[in-house]
Order: sequence, then C-alpha cells, then structure tokens
Amino acid sequence: CGIIGYAGPRHAQNVLVDALRRMEYRGYDSAGIAVWTEDGLEWRKKAGKLSNLEAELAQHPVPVAHLGIGHTRWATHGAPTDTNAHPHVSSDGRIALIHNGIIENFASLRAELESSGIAFTSQTDSEVAAQLIAREVGAGAGLAEAMRTISRRLEGTFTIVAMDAHDPDLLVAARRNSPLVLGVGEAEMFIASDVAAFIEFTREAVEMGQDVVVEVTASSWKVTDFEGNPVEGRPYHVDWDLSAAEKGGYDWFMRKEIYEQPQAVADTLLGRFDSDRRLTLDEIRISASELRTIDKVVIVACGTAYYAGLVAKYAIEHWTRIPCEVEIASEFRYRDPIVTSRTLVVTISQSGETADTLMAVRYAREQGAKVIAICNTNGSTIPRESDAVIYTHAGPEIGVASTKGFLTQVTACYLLGLFLAQERGTKFGDEVATVMAEMETMPAKIQEVLDGTDALLALARDLHQTESVLFLGRHAGYPVALEGALKLKEIAYLHAEGFPAGELKHGPIALVEEGIPVFVVVPPQGRDQLHDKVISNIQEVRARGAHTIVLAEEGDEEVRPYADRLISLPRASTLLQPLLATVPLQIFACEVATLLGHDVDQPRNLAKSVTVE
Ligand code: G6P
Repeated sequence: CGIIGYAGPRHAQNVLVDALRRMEYRGYDSAGIAVWTEDGLEWRKKAGKLSNLEAELAQHPVPVAHLGIGHTRWATHGAPTDTNAHPHVSSDGRIALIHNGIIENFASLRAELESSGIAFTSQTDSEVAAQLIAREVGAGAGLAEAMRTISRRLEGTFTIVAMDAHDPDLLVAARRNSPLVLGVGEAEMFIASDVAAFIEFTREAVEMGQDVVVEVTASSWKVTDFEGNPVEGRPYHVDWDLSAAEKGGYDWFMRKEIYEQPQAVADTLLGRFDSDRRLTLDEIRISASELRTIDKVVIVACGTAYYAGLVAKYAIEHWTRIPCEVEIASEFRYRDPIVTSRTLVVTISQSGETADTLMAVRYAREQGAKVIAICNTNGSTIPRESDAVIYTHAGPEIGVASTKGFLTQVTACYLLGLFLAQERGTKFGDEVATVMAEMETMPAKIQEVLDGTDALLALARDLHQTESVLFLGRHAGYPVALEGALKLKEIAYLHAEGFPAGELKHGPIALVEEGIPVFVVVPPQGRDQLHDKVISNIQEVRARGAHTIVLAEEGDEEVRPYADRLISLPRASTLLQPLLATVPLQIFACEVATLLGHDVDQPRNLAKSVTVE
C-alpha cells in the first residue's frame, strides 16, 4: 500500500491525490483521502484505481483544508470494496487513519471492542486501530500518546497515520516494519511510504527507525519510541528529481525504464575503482579478514530479484570458488537453513522493503551471518538493517514489472563477486580488471539491443494471440529464460514457463505442440560444448513443431538454420550475456501486453513493493 500525510499551506486534496498518483504502483485496489475541517473530518474513498477516487472528488470535492491523509491499497484483509478502502474512521467520527501492513491480532482486538459496544463498518484489520485510538483519546489522551499506547498492543506490521477531529494541526504516524519516510518542506511536512510521494515539493527526507511514533505539524516533527523516549531520525537528500519519476514521453513507465537500462547499468558501475584500481563498493562494514572466513554465500530474494540471484550464482562461484546457494526469501527462514557466522547472506531487493526479504535478513543476522544488501532505494529498511549495502543506482523504478531493477541487480552481483575474489585473493582476483573492462562495454551494447527492436515489435504483433510461450536457456541463460517467462505472466497474463534447455526432454517437452512459440537463449560460441548442446535442444523442439525464436550472438551462423526468428545480440562472455539477452524479452512482454490492451504499469493483482509476508 501507499500512504501519505500532509500538513501545510496547500490545498490538501491536491497534494494527497498527486502523491497517491505517484505511489499507485504500490497497490491499486482502492484509494481514499481524509482532511481536517472545522466541521469535522471529511473523507472520500473508492474501490478500484485512483481514477475512480478522482472522479468522485470531481463530483464531490472535499473542502479546502491544510491537514490530510491519503491511501492507495493492495488488499490483504477484506475485499477491495469502497467500505474496506482507507481512510478508516472511528464510529464517533473523531479519528481517521490509514494503514499499511497486517495487524495480526486484529480478531481478538476487534472482539474486545465489539463487546464494549463499538460497531465496525469494514472487514479490515485496520479499522481496529482507528477504534482503539478513538477510545484512548475519548478517555483524555493526546493523539500521540494514544498512538503509542495502541502501538504497544498491535502485533504484526504497520505504518499508520492518524488525525484527530479535535486537532487541526497534528498528524501522528506509527511505524513497525512497514515503510515510512518524512519529507521536510518549507513550512510544510509530508509523511509517506516513499519519497516519490513528495519529491515534487521537497528533496529533504528523514529516514525513520523501527517501532517509532512521529508527530508532524506543518513546521515541526518529533520522533519517539513506543514508550515516549526521544529517537533520532536520519536526514538525507534525495538524489533524483521529479522528472525521473515521470514518463517522459513513453506510453508506459516500464517502457521508459527498459530504455533507461544503458544509463542505469552505467550508473551502477560508476566510481567503483579507487586510485589504486582496486574495486570498492558503497558501504561494506565487513572487514577483509571476515570476508576471507566466509565458506558459503546464500542469496535470498523474491520475484525478479530472485532471478538476478540465480544469474549471480554462476558468476560468484566461478570467480570466488565459494559455494553459492540461491533461495526464495519466503522459503528461507522457515526451513531451518544452515546459516553460521561464516555464511555471507546476500539479499537483493529493488525496493528494500519487501517483507519476505526483510524477515530473511533478520533471521540470517540472528544466526550470526553477515548480510550484504543489494538495493535500489536509499533510506529503505533492508539496507538499514544489513551489515553492508551495494546500491544499484538505477533511479526510481515505477513499472510494477521490474526491468532496470533486474539488470542493475545482476550488475551489482557481478561487482560483489569480483570484490570477493579481490578481497580473498583467489586466482581469479587477477581477472577483476579484465571483467570490469568488459562490464564497462555493456551499457553501449545494451543500447545496441534497444536500437534494433523493430523485429521484436513485429514478433509481438504476430504472436500476441498465442496461449502459451516457452523459454529455454542453459547456464546463465537459464535464469534469463525464467525472467522472460515471468515478464509475460506478470503483464500479459499469458501462460509462460522457463526451463533449462537440457531438462526439457525429461518432461516439459510434452507441452510442445505445433506452432508453440519457444524462445531459446543461446550461449556464445566456443565455450565448452554449451553452445552445441543448446543447438541440439533447439532441434528437439523444432522437430516437434515449435516456432523457434532464437537469441544468439551476432555472427553465429550455426544456429541460423534452426531459428524461425533470429534475434542477434552483441558479443559478450557467457557470464555477462544475461545483461543483453534479457532486454529483448522485456520488450516482447511489454509489447504483447500493450497489444492485448492491458495496463502494463499496473498489472492485475500485483503491487511493486509487497510489505506483508
Ligand atoms: C513484487 C513485485 C515483483 C518484484 C518483487 C521483489 O512481488 O511485483 O516485480 O520482483 O516484489 O521486489 P523487490 O523490491 O524486493 O526487488
């Protein structure tokens, strides 16, 4: 979910709706706002996308007001209806609040409130918080005190922002594990799930710790823990601006972000060498001697970031000779994994807020492991709770399906692999400079792929009515196949699956029937026998009627006879080829989804940053 609170001289409705528009990628099941007026709180809320709320506000605007809250929802408890939309208002009309997260003990709290005669209007866990605060302020507590009291009772994860009909100036927020950042403007204040909400007005932000309550007026802010003890926030400057968060002439954020990839990868590589040509990373608070004792790397992530981790495994094991496992974050801590003080856990998360990944970080640290976060969002929770962080510097990613996030995560993983090789002095340590030199050529090669997309657009037109698509790859091309399939599932809602090309014959080949499109990522020529093996795999599916779309390096004449369509990639080594081979698959998915009339940036049922487990 996305949340925003505003206190300041502007018309709150406009600020709130603008902020919700910039955060809509965080969830779009419903949207709502509430504002303070002299005659009491006023609110509007609507199921469905923000445009429904905007239509409602056009008919029935809220009065001009200078204090308000807004919410865009990704449904957890309770269906996406008008009633379940936020803000939630207490039965006495005094407290309005918005909530992101899950209140796990809401059923018992609700029963307690109902037995004292309070009638609930929604099925959400969030309404419990509104009724609880109302009871506290009704008994004479101030809003902040009430928030602290109820925060001590709530279990689970939450960011809550509340306002009180009796106080025209004050917003109070509470935070446990869900994202929250303060924006400090000139005589105005913003409190939101992410900086995109207020970047139009201020680039001065304050990062919050966990288990805090924040009191905000137009001219002041104050942070305490749940007991009321003062806590410091960490002020920082946001280094991207509004234009980075707008579409800049593209039809979709996703397409814009695909085209930003040369720059994003270049930025991820920028400034990584010190004056002695030694590789340096952002914030590595782990000593070289600690790194030398590492006997296992475990990469933990979700979704696209998990596939970036699968690519990384090939590189990290090859360069460092340290065993590397890759695991889905939501599986990791619940299976009693073997994690010791000699394990290096690497988490990958574009948002830095994914709850499954965050819980894996905490679990790993409890076991004594060191944790390095690969992350795109400064000030987010996962890097803050890790021992080290490598930022991907991709700029804001708004499209729900990750693109530049993925390419920069892969790039950052390579940097990490090379850094480990360097620090541990493995025999591949000497290769660092050579690989870095090749990496530095990648942005231009990605640009070459982007310059030659006409054939892909034609391919999408020919194939968009298909029911099912398969993707094959081997070695580092295998995760690329998985990512190509995921993109089609996410935004085109097509049945798509990725397989290791050599595994197909052991089962999935039964899916191959006349005319089925099969994408095959072919590794560069001349490496072991991999290239030839993949060619055999192409023949296996082609013999059974598949329509083969082959991604191979330019000048690869051997594949040509087996490719119904050939997509040429600039030359790159096997390990770096994913940075190129993924791009046509992203474009294909984006185009198919567009032709099918789907909302590419906001696919159904998904949200960009999932802050519940
Ligand atoms: C969500 C998104 C995916 C994303 C995953 C991990 O499920 O819909 O596109 O890959 O979260 O996100 P993260 O921010 O942790 O990289």
